[in-house]
Amino acid sequence: MHILHVVLLLDFLVLGHSSSALNKMWEEWKVKHHKVYDNQTEIIFRRAVWQKNMLLVLTHNQEASAGKHSFTLGMNHLADMTAEEINERLNGLKLEEPAHFTNLTIKEVNSLSTPQSMDWRKSGLVSPVQNQGLCGSCWAFSSMGALEGQMKKRTGVLVPLSPQNLVDCSTSDGNHGCRGGYISKAFSYVIRNGGVDSEKFYPYEHQNGKCRYSVKGKAGYCSNYHILPQGDERALQAVVASVGPVAVAVNAMLSSFHLYRGGLYNVPGCNPRFINHAVLVVGYGTDRGQDYWLVKNSWGTMWGEEGFIRLARNKNNLCGIASFAVYPTL
Ligand SMILES: *[C@@H]1O[C@H](CO)[C@@H](O)[C@H](O)[C@H]1NC(C)=O
Ligand SMILES: *[C@@H]1O[C@H](CO)[C@@H](O)[C@H](O)[C@H]1NC(C)=O
Repeated sequence: MHILHVVLLLDFLVLGHSSSALNKMWEEWKVKHHKVYDNQTEIIFRRAVWQKNMLLVLTHNQEASAGKHSFTLGMNHLADMTAEEINERLNGLKLEEPAHFTNLTIKEVNSLSTPQSMDWRKSGLVSPVQNQGLCGSCWAFSSMGALEGQMKKRTGVLVPLSPQNLVDCSTSDGNHGCRGGYISKAFSYVIRNGGVDSEKFYPYEHQNGKCRYSVKGKAGYCSNYHILPQGDERALQAVVASVGPVAVAVNAMLSSFHLYRGGLYNVPGCNPRFINHAVLVVGYGTDRGQDYWLVKNSWGTMWGEEGFIRLARNKNNLCGIASFAVYPTL
């Protein structure tokens, strides 16, 4: 949105003359994101939530243009949901039990070379961004993203793997489908099951279903997985550089994360201990002197930078990006 519009709209909001401008934006937003609500009560509630988020976005972007923030927010498809709803319905990562940790030794990490920047998308190790919908299956997307990268390295072909396969079939490994799961237990399933199907063979459905794994659709496998030293961004950088995309857990609780539009996400209050969402680190770099992680999310391409976020790097493990990082080995 044009800065002038933002300023004008803010003035309108302050003066209380905003209703027709806002109504128009609400109607356009609903069309763009294919929103249909069940009844009048729901419409009134969603409109109120949307308006609150709109004010947040406008204020934030106004401040960003004045140099107070290094990222902007946008009215994406999540803008009619409260932060609590998003955290409850989309952010289904369970906290890992320490018993599952199989640490890498620091010696191993230090011996790896670390270039200044890395973007595994350029080497074709990253499949298209998907949208998990209102299902807490982030753990399945994150883990399959890491496995897709390793499979591509091994076979030379990038085949999107099936998060639905994990949602439906890994309950006995300790996962809970759309109600959440663990990155490590996603890999445990693939190891135990002897493989995982392709997305094409076993497509995503946004909800729990009956397990329909078939060896006919098998496109991925792994024999082990490794958990990086907790909170160590240097180790994460080294492993991303030498191994490929790494599944990680982050704090995605803040509205600024839900409505992230673009730029370098750097929120000082993003506590590394409050982890609730699984994503995929696909690279890293430096922009105007500020280090960042390049991260793939599973909230569709309307969110962030075509579905990706650049998250501040070497800022004391901001948002817990290195608190729980895992990669599989074939
Ligand atoms: C209106 O729709 C919402 C959401 O779909 C639903 O939870 C609620 O029960 C509905 N209320 C009425 C009065 O039908
Ligand atoms: C892994 O490292 C953590 C922290 O250094 C430690 O508490 C834990 O016991 C280690 N786990 C294993 C399996 O070595």
